[in-house]
Amino acid sequence: MSPMPAPPPFSQDPLRIEVCKDAEDLARHAAGLFVSRAGLALGARRQFAVALSGGETPRRMYALLTQDHYAYQIVWPAVQVYFSDERCVPPDDPRSNYRMAWETMLSRVGLPEQNIQRMRGEDDPVLAADAYERELLEAFAGAPRFDLVLLGMGADGHTASIFPGGQPAGERWVAVATDPTGARRLTLTLKTINAARTVAVLVAGREKADTLKRVLGADAREVGLPIQAVRPTDGQVIWIIDEAAASQLDPPAASHAD
Ligand code: 6PG
Repeated sequence: MSPMPAPPPFSQDPLRIEVCKDAEDLARHAAGLFVSRAGLALGARRQFAVALSGGETPRRMYALLTQDHYAYQIVWPAVQVYFSDERCVPPDDPRSNYRMAWETMLSRVGLPEQNIQRMRGEDDPVLAADAYERELLEAFAGAPRFDLVLLGMGADGHTASIFPGGQPAGERWVAVATDPTGARRLTLTLKTINAARTVAVLVAGREKADTLKRVLGADAREVGLPIQAVRPTDGQVIWIIDEAAASQLDPPAASHAD
């Protein structure tokens, strides 16, 4: 009898869109993806390196991951947590992405604190970006490649802290950015994001529907939005979106994922 064919590697399925009924369904899908990617990474490399995103959308997913059903499926001591971006504020500031992730998930699972690599938003931004880049280069032996990068998308098409018109360019892995209010941020660059094995973009809400149509719709055109530049070179991008955000997409893309 011939052996079972091996499943195709992720690189053969570069784009996947999962449309979820509502925010709760979206959180479940995202938590399931986290568990599955953790399992794959631990099986292959005994370590799971994930970059967490900020914003509102991943909150519920983080909370779900602390529940027994998910938490018991993850070998937390083998998880290395990083961040996709950070505001230039201290870690106890309500705007801190680290604080949100710490409160909703990181402090509630069996994750050793030394496995959490946060961006130091309280430091001089240039020095903090340099320091984080050095950390990544050391941790990934000179070539950062996350198992999973979580991202969100703003209605203006920004992702992480890469804003329209201000994409950090060049060879940097981590950069300083300025948001539309003029505030400084720290962010993984597109180079880092696109080097990941899996990138998951979580998008919820009707206010994102027009932008999503411009990015994923049948007649989408390249208009230079940062989110359009998220294209892993040897990996997969998975959009996990709710029906409200998907409401302007053409039906074929908007099939419900079970
Ligand atoms: C942040 C992220 C940002 C976020 C999007 C979507 O806020 O820290 O930099 O890219 O993911 O703005 O945010 P929501 O999930 O709140 O819509």
